[in-house]
Amino acid sequence: MPEPPTAVDPSIFRRLMGRWATGVSVVTARHGTADGGLTVNAMLSISLHPPSVLVALTSDADTTPLIEQSRVFAVNLLAADQRPVSERFARTIPASEKFRNLPVHRGVTGIALLDGTLGAAECRVVAWIPQYDHVLVVGDVVRQEVGRDAEPLLFFRSGYASVDGADRLSLPPRHPS
Ligand SMILES: Cc1cc2nc3c(=O)[nH]c(=O)nc-3n(C[C@H](O)[C@H](O)[C@H](O)COP(=O)(O)O)c2cc1C
Repeated sequence: MPEPPTAVDPSIFRRLMGRWATGVSVVTARHGTADGGLTVNAMLSISLHPPSVLVALTSDADTTPLIEQSRVFAVNLLAADQRPVSERFARTIPASEKFRNLPVHRGVTGIALLDGTLGAAECRVVAWIPQYDHVLVVGDVVRQEVGRDAEPLLFFRSGYASVDGADRLSLPPRHPS
């Protein structure tokens, strides 16, 4: 018989996961003429063959239905000096305010790609997996652009962090990143 689940304190779980350092992205979307976007650190690359990514989005975010309907999204990888962009896209404000005076260019999907990022990938949704209060969205990359060779914005212990003297790893050829 499997053990019954232990009572896991969500606030300690939040602290625990806060020790997992991530980059910060803005996931942008467009349905018809409506632009949307939100700050996302739950983003990872899945495979190189084909190039694909996964993002975990809260179901009640305004941007989530735009992606559900259009079946496309883009991940924009933020540089360390784009913290104000991250803060803006994490606020519960109308999308028009998020994009106000923000330099963007349009990708092949028509989605707004933020200027000044480390790079961006436009993706076509290939899996939509609702789980608890989130949806896991898998996308195949249809177009990519490598941007500035700058330091990344990081998220660690519930706050922003930066890379300090990071060593470049020499990865074996089969490593996914
Ligand atoms: C650093 C950081 C990381 C975040 N990561 C995620 C994430 O991975 N998934 C998510 O759904 N929301 C995430 N959020 C919260 C959303 O950005 C926030 O709920 C946003 O207001 C949603 O915007 P929208 O409702 O206009 O789509 C994050 C916020 C911050 C500050």
